[in-house]
Amino acid sequence: MEPYIIAIDGPSGSGKGSLAVKVATQLGFHILDSGAIYRLAALKALNEKVDIQSEQDVLAAIEQMKIHFETGDELTTPFLDGVDVSLQIRDEETASAASVVAAYPSIRQQLLNIQQNFFQPPGLVADGRDMGTTVFPDAKIKIFLNASSEIRAKRRHKQLIGMGLSASIADLQNDIEIRDERDRTRSVSPLVPASDAIVVDCSMMELNQVFELVMSHIVDVNNNQV
Ligand code: C5P
Repeated sequence: MEPYIIAIDGPSGSGKGSLAVKVATQLGFHILDSGAIYRLAALKALNEKVDIQSEQDVLAAIEQMKIHFETGDELTTPFLDGVDVSLQIRDEETASAASVVAAYPSIRQQLLNIQQNFFQPPGLVADGRDMGTTVFPDAKIKIFLNASSEIRAKRRHKQLIGMGLSASIADLQNDIEIRDERDRTRSVSPLVPASDAIVVDCSMMELNQVFELVMSHIVDVNNNQV
């Protein structure tokens, strides 16, 4: 089977991450959580106390960062400069800084190769904002997953509580809307569906229903070869 890429894009909290893990597990594919890479870059800038409004200063910090992921039975653990930062990259300060840092063209360029290097046989499920448009424009399947900001805030709240982090749903919804606006209106790789993406509104769908839908497209496109 030739290497195969499935791009799953969409706004924060649309369920891309859970869907990507489920599809990758089912197919035995590798996985790229590109949001985690932007969060690691933002955390590096915050740790170094650089002014995140300065693209040049953020770039200088990121050029020095060393990141890697360790894959366990169920979880993938992100490391920044040798330290497990799974919790820190999920907090709202880092999320917000990530969406600022992600709007800088030089940062996106710096992080492009790192993301493309995740592509290994037999295939990759890549989740993010620009997987189908910029990082893997030749992906065989492109999914754009959407849901209302209210539903997404509620899902994020549940996730954070599960990780032992606290947050209010109203604050989360507000943060999500600010980040969405920044992601959609930036000049490079804005959050938009690729022209050949399958757009799915999953506001009223369970994860399993979205999974079945995505798998049905994979079978169609690959003539039952996966
Ligand atoms: O998906 P997640 O919420 O972890 O992403 C954090 C931030 O990183 C997003 O708000 C977005 O600004 C940025 N991002 C991006 N491009 C990607 C993935 C994430 O700009 N491919």
